[in-house]
Amino acid sequence: MTKLLMSLSLFLLSTFINKSKADTAYNVVQFDAKPDGKTDCTKQFLKTWAATCNSVKAATMFVPKGKYLLKNVVFRGPCKNKVNVRIEGSLIAPSDYRALGSSGYWILFNHINKLAVSGGTLDARGASFWECRASGKSCPVGARSITFNYVNDAVISGLTSINSQLMHIVINSCNNVMVRNVNVVAPDWSPNTDGIHVQGSTGVTISGSSMKTGDDCISIGPGTKNLWMEKIKCGPGHGVSIGSLARDFNEEGVQNVTLINSVFSGSDNGLRIKSWARPSTGFVSNINYKNIVMNNVENPIIIDQNYCPNNQGCPGQTSGTKISQVVYQNVQGTSATRRAMIFDCSPSNPCKGIRLHDIKLTYLNQKAQSYCKNIGGITTGVIMPENCL
Ligand SMILES: *[C@@H]1O[C@H](CO)[C@@H](O)[C@H](O)[C@H]1NC(C)=O
Repeated sequence: MTKLLMSLSLFLLSTFINKSKADTAYNVVQFDAKPDGKTDCTKQFLKTWAATCNSVKAATMFVPKGKYLLKNVVFRGPCKNKVNVRIEGSLIAPSDYRALGSSGYWILFNHINKLAVSGGTLDARGASFWECRASGKSCPVGARSITFNYVNDAVISGLTSINSQLMHIVINSCNNVMVRNVNVVAPDWSPNTDGIHVQGSTGVTISGSSMKTGDDCISIGPGTKNLWMEKIKCGPGHGVSIGSLARDFNEEGVQNVTLINSVFSGSDNGLRIKSWARPSTGFVSNINYKNIVMNNVENPIIIDQNYCPNNQGCPGQTSGTKISQVVYQNVQGTSATRRAMIFDCSPSNPCKGIRLHDIKLTYLNQKAQSYCKNIGGITTGVIMPENCL
């Protein structure tokens, strides 16, 4: 009996070892990357990536503890097998913001199937870029910190991104991506530093993640389908925003988006849908918000279809974006402004099928107010502020 157990456990042990052996590891330090935070490691990272991506067996690109200075880098696929990027160290951008140039990205993963990126801190050192923009000087377009373009079946977990020049994490034209346990940090005044931006992608899940930043915690662009967000902490930041939509006339819709079990604290917005007052083929449908807590949020619930900064570039002044089937269920807490609920829908395309269930939002322990324009829908349960549907 003991013998049997022993041989069984040996068998289990050996399969475990074989399994970890199957995943060949390529260490950036073995490819001469210097973890001193001063020596440019871009070439060494690219060589490590090439080895990992060309491995016939599933392979890991490993970044041990330490600081690695990186310029713009493209990790391009397709790869021969699954690729795992395991980061224990910090990747830091050059201190001169101009070094990331005008390419629009810092770290870019492109055309990869079956990718896992785990751990790591990305520090884009964006402050001097924000200062350049604030000073009104002419500045480069800036860089997003980490972008996934045409990546399918991916898991991004345990990643921290601080002080990006522009958006922190971008998921564009991807399928089946899990984002888990991600942390975004930038000052509340830093411009355009969205936490996670999803666009043109199907089947993205964002779970257990926290964003403190200067723009949207999560922004959702055209062509987003089947997006699931849970256990999100947002604030400071501009909320979880669908939009801005109707920027272009020919635009894909946003459909089947869920945000559940999430908390907003001191953010400018909570649940926001925003479109330009411009003609568009776009739409927003089947959106579900459930179990949301608001702590001192300026606009806890807002649909704004009349976005037109400086009244420029909005011919006709109404939005073509068609909004329908938006459900708000169990949204509770405090508003930092009297108007806790704003539905400012398009006069040419009124919001349809809006459903409110159990909304309890107060302002300084008083009654808050609501505003409705061009909207149709139903309410059930307690509705505070007063129902204006
Ligand atoms: C909506 O999205 C979820 C994932 O968020 C998915 O499981 C579900 O099948 C989708 N529903 C439809 C009708 O596509």
